[in-house]
Amino acid sequence: MDKLMFQENDTIGSVIYVDTNQVLIEVEDNEKISLLNVGSIVAIQTTRSFEFTIGIIDKVRRKANELMELEDLTDEYNESLEEAYISSDVIQVSLIGTYKTVDGDTKNCFKRGIDTFPQITHHCYSINGNNLKLFMNIISDDVSLEKQLVIGKFAIDDNATAILDGDKFFQRHASILGSTGSGKSWCVANLIEEASKLNNPNIIVLDMHGEYKSLCDTDKKYADYYKIAGPEDLENDDEKYVFLPYWLLNRDEMLSMILDRSDNNAPNQASRFTFHVRELKEETLRELGKSKVLSTFTVDSPIPFNMEALITRLKEDDTKKGIGANNKPVKGEWEGKLTRFISRLETKIMDKRYGFLFQPNINTLNYDWLSKLLCKMIGADYERKGIKIIDFSEVPSDVLPIVTGIISRLLFDVQIWMDEEKRTPFAILCDEAHLYLPIQEDADSVQKQALGNFERIAKEGRKYGISLVVISQRPSDVSKTILSQCNNFLVLRLSNDRDKSVIRNLLPDALKSILDQLPLLDVGEAIAVGDAILLPSRIRLKTPQLKPMSATKNFWIEWENTKADNAAIIEAIENMRCQTKE
Ligand SMILES: Nc1ncnc2c1ncn2[C@@H]1O[C@H](COP(=O)(O)OP(=O)(O)O)[C@@H](O)[C@H]1O
Ligand SMILES: [Mg+2]
Repeated sequence: MDKLMFQENDTIGSVIYVDTNQVLIEVEDNEKISLLNVGSIVAIQTTRSFEFTIGIIDKVRRKANELMELEDLTDEYNESLEEAYISSDVIQVSLIGTYKTVDGDTKNCFKRGIDTFPQITHHCYSINGNNLKLFMNIISDDVSLEKQLVIGKFAIDDNATAILDGDKFFQRHASILGSTGSGKSWCVANLIEEASKLNNPNIIVLDMHGEYKSLCDTDKKYADYYKIAGPEDLENDDEKYVFLPYWLLNRDEMLSMILDRSDNNAPNQASRFTFHVRELKEETLRELGKSKVLSTFTVDSPIPFNMEALITRLKEDDTKKGIGANNKPVKGEWEGKLTRFISRLETKIMDKRYGFLFQPNINTLNYDWLSKLLCKMIGADYERKGIKIIDFSEVPSDVLPIVTGIISRLLFDVQIWMDEEKRTPFAILCDEAHLYLPIQEDADSVQKQALGNFERIAKEGRKYGISLVVISQRPSDVSKTILSQCNNFLVLRLSNDRDKSVIRNLLPDALKSILDQLPLLDVGEAIAVGDAILLPSRIRLKTPQLKPMSATKNFWIEWENTKADNAAIIEAIENMRCQTKE
């Protein structure tokens, strides 16, 4: 058999109502309806014998007196339906595409979109058995071998491998959404595992809980582990510690952390800060003889300078007297106006939690250090895998946005300034994105900085070969600008209405009803929608070989079997005191 062929007993019923992308099918045989499931696919006869419209069952209703509430149906329609089909079983089907046994030179093909709408009385067939096998093969074969990203099996047919188009999935941003514990981290581990089979994958994972460390540990590891330097790590030269020294911050990022905008002297403070930073950067460039950079650099250019020198100069401003008539000292232009700014800056500098920013390892003050960092992040290296896990678990939450923001900005800028021909693509996986990519209105000044950087990537990244994969349990708290740029969605179980409605708004009309399945999904099941998969489908994600350290605790069993460990509590308290786990 090489094409879908329907027998008499595949018939479910016939079309009784058509409304753009939805149809109602009256089921003829009471027995049959018990075999139909929400999410099953069906084929509907069209006026052309070689063509069928393919749809997904949204609702199955057995009692006719409890009529389906189709959102857009008119009252008249409801009444007439009630009268006519008072005793029948009805299913509601969303139309998603067209199957053709022949289409020009190609045989047996499926495409998104509907050419000819079904007509009333047209027959509707269930797709099962061999037909299902054949149809799912068409879906999987749609992606050519070298682009295949295998993520699991189709829920409607355990034998059919669910394959995404790996190019399309990353090309125009993707997102993985679902309640906590629904299987997002495992899904990410799957993506990483599949990518690691390629020769030159290039992925950066922003790991908020340090849960992907286990993918870097064993012999068969497929990623490299990095960690934003914690208070204990500041003097450590180990490659794995990532510093983001203050001189990488542009003016706005720095000021968003230090300036108190409600201070009367804020404008003075900002202007003296800018003046001195620019001057100090200029001095560095002079010392190093970087004449080319000297002629065009700005205060935002990432050029090392000495923080102590900056404070000294600010303090001079803050204490310097002015000279009045008869050379008498008068109040200086900035005298006393910078005091609070300096003390805020000093507080930040002394806080060990901010050590990776303000007390960075001495090597990081080197002009060439930045290129080393970026080669580590997105460059190639014989010893490395190309997949980088960056552990943010010890970064204080108030600076999380700044840190993720700086990393993303640096990566984007390098990509922009790189020779077009030599650019290679990379993806940034943003785990727990709601923590640093909140919706605009809720963002504070620090978060706005980070958001700006990510939103820029969301809007323009495609042109420069940067992909975002946004992962979150609270889609309603994630920047709409970023989510709306995503073209592919893996949505796991999600029951909260606010979150569901966000996703509803992101999907094309024809696919909205598929979301009714979301609360019903099992752990590790996802609905995949987007241009990376031909048929929006429910997928059982596979189990990754190396699992993230996110295992759900077995309360009941552990309460029976495992004693709490006092020594571990005492150790935790010490860790809390020194703000590090190592
Ligand atoms: N694909 C899957 N197959 C089977 N079990 C899974 C799958 N994904 C997740 N789980 C189970 O669910 C638990 C939570 O998954 P996790 O990915 O950490 O959820 P999330 O990141 O969404 O909070 C895992 O520890 C595992 O037991
Ligand atoms: Mg998780």
